[in-house]
Amino acid sequence: MKFFIDTANLAQIEEAQALGVLDGVTTNPSLMAKEGITGKNNILKHYVDICNLVDGDVSAEVNAVDYEGMIKEGEELADLHDQIVVKLPLTKEGIMACKYFSDKGIKTNVTLVFSAGQALLAAKAGATYVSPFIGRLDDVSTDGLALIEDIRLIFDNYGYETEILAASVRHTMHIINCAKIGADVITGPLSAIAGLLKHPLTDIGLAQFIADFEKGNK
Ligand code: E4P
Repeated sequence: MKFFIDTANLAQIEEAQALGVLDGVTTNPSLMAKEGITGKNNILKHYVDICNLVDGDVSAEVNAVDYEGMIKEGEELADLHDQIVVKLPLTKEGIMACKYFSDKGIKTNVTLVFSAGQALLAAKAGATYVSPFIGRLDDVSTDGLALIEDIRLIFDNYGYETEILAASVRHTMHIINCAKIGADVITGPLSAIAGLLKHPLTDIGLAQFIADFEKGNK
């Protein structure tokens, strides 16, 4: 399973990269705005900075909503760095743009996916990744993990190579359950990834080992 970090914060990306388990980064316009990155040139430079920090795929989202605009913006993003994945919304125009980029061999991430039908369309358009937002579904009392299960079944039935990128991951149990049901990738905050490290018995056991070692080596 691949781990992507869902942030535009360079310090957090560096921290996750240093852990040695990071496979990529996802961003979105809200995450860029949260870091105070505004204006086209600053945004493009920030994507390059992110690519230079990590080894894997970096999703960069288009802001245009019309087809021509998505193509223009997506091409500009893809030209920035070979790690860039063009992130497109699941709209009619986004699916058409996904087909355009996949035909050209440019990687895509189709985002804002909330149903199995939407995921199926993205796979048929050749998406590299499809991003179902499990946390946002949970927020409205709908089972986000059940959506991942449905998409897994559909993709396996037909051998679609599109990777299921479970997005809007909020905590450790989302990651563990996504791993159990076969999501290819999760993207979430550093807190969720680093949270996997924690177990009180590990802390208690280590404290005991240290104490016993010190007793015997005084
Ligand atoms: C996915 O790529 C999105 O950036 C993200 O996972 C959305 O998460 P949120 O629902 O926590 O904003």
